[in-house]
Amino acid sequence: MLPAMTHGGDIIAEVLARHGVTHLFALCGGHISPILTGAQSRGLRVVDENGAPLTLGALPEDGFITVYPEGQVGRADSQALLIRVPKGLLELPPARMAAVPDGVYVAYSKLCTHAGCPVGLYRARERSLLCPCHQSQFNVLNGAKPYFGPAARPLPQLPLGLDQEGLLVALGDFYEPVGPAFWDRSKS
Ligand code: FES
Repeated sequence: MLPAMTHGGDIIAEVLARHGVTHLFALCGGHISPILTGAQSRGLRVVDENGAPLTLGALPEDGFITVYPEGQVGRADSQALLIRVPKGLLELPPARMAAVPDGVYVAYSKLCTHAGCPVGLYRARERSLLCPCHQSQFNVLNGAKPYFGPAARPLPQLPLGLDQEGLLVALGDFYEPVGPAFWDRSKS
């Protein structure tokens, strides 16, 4: 059954998804834009480093894994840490909690907001993420706010949902720019 449609791009995106189409190439712009918007609104699957999709059973409690939106495996600015926290512990604003499937699967950018090192260590006892470069620590339960070390900005959250097959999907881009602030200034 089709979800509530807003434009023709949604319908085409639904049909493409049913037929397993994952890539479209256009020789020019124009009418491809609504299709792209429709496809993005359906969500990109979240996959592990081998490109495998993930379900709600993917991780044990306090398990964590590096994930990417499908089609972006290996891209440094797309990598995120998916963490399954025990139910009832997350303290996020309602809108952000809605992007945490089953109330337990939260994902944050893996790029440290201090100088861009990969934040690779999850410490389950403190529910914190640790950056090995200069020891910044981020509180997983309150939106990955830094509480120790030189990082001044939280790790941006990746909004997640579930598709009709029960697979984790990214519902959009990270809520904030990833990586250190000077990366953004250099792009402008
Ligand atoms: S790069 Fe992470 S603390 Fe410096």
